[in-house]
Amino acid sequence: MLKVDEVKNMDREERLKYTNYLLKSQLSSEFDSLANLSNSKAIIKSCIENLNWVGYYILRDNTLVLGPFQGKPACNRIEIGKGVCGSSVYKKTTILVDDVSKFPGHIFCDNDSRSELVIPIILDGKVRGVLDLDSPVLNRFTNLEKKYFEEHINILKDQINWNLL
Ligand code: SME
Repeated sequence: MLKVDEVKNMDREERLKYTNYLLKSQLSSEFDSLANLSNSKAIIKSCIENLNWVGYYILRDNTLVLGPFQGKPACNRIEIGKGVCGSSVYKKTTILVDDVSKFPGHIFCDNDSRSELVIPIILDGKVRGVLDLDSPVLNRFTNLEKKYFEEHINILKDQINWNLL
């Protein structure tokens, strides 16, 4: 059992570290890709404050397709270059948006979202998907979140069979 309640008295950085610790624990006890992606987003949603949407989009036939997530129902498909997620795939880089209303082409899936962080999942130079985090708070994400969520993806990406998803 993953102990997510332990975060109650932790500060912001300790929660981020603990999230990645729980992910390693999940990966050491399970090999199924869908189970691991599902618990990854559940660990993040349970441990990190002020998130209204957390989930994965998987790149299939050059389109991002909705994967395991927690939050309101979201758009099923996003084209490369579109929105924050598609731009992250196109640029092959993390995109941190302080205020989504100022990001040209931002795609609203949840009207509560005010800021966003998208991490591309790149394996052997090839993008396999993205991790998308939305917050109802402006300026929610900083370089601290960027660092730990990029680490989260680095821990996870080799252990997922992206071709089977
Ligand atoms: N805001 C994203 C779309 C996905 S939802 O936030 C879940 C974007 O602009 O790509």
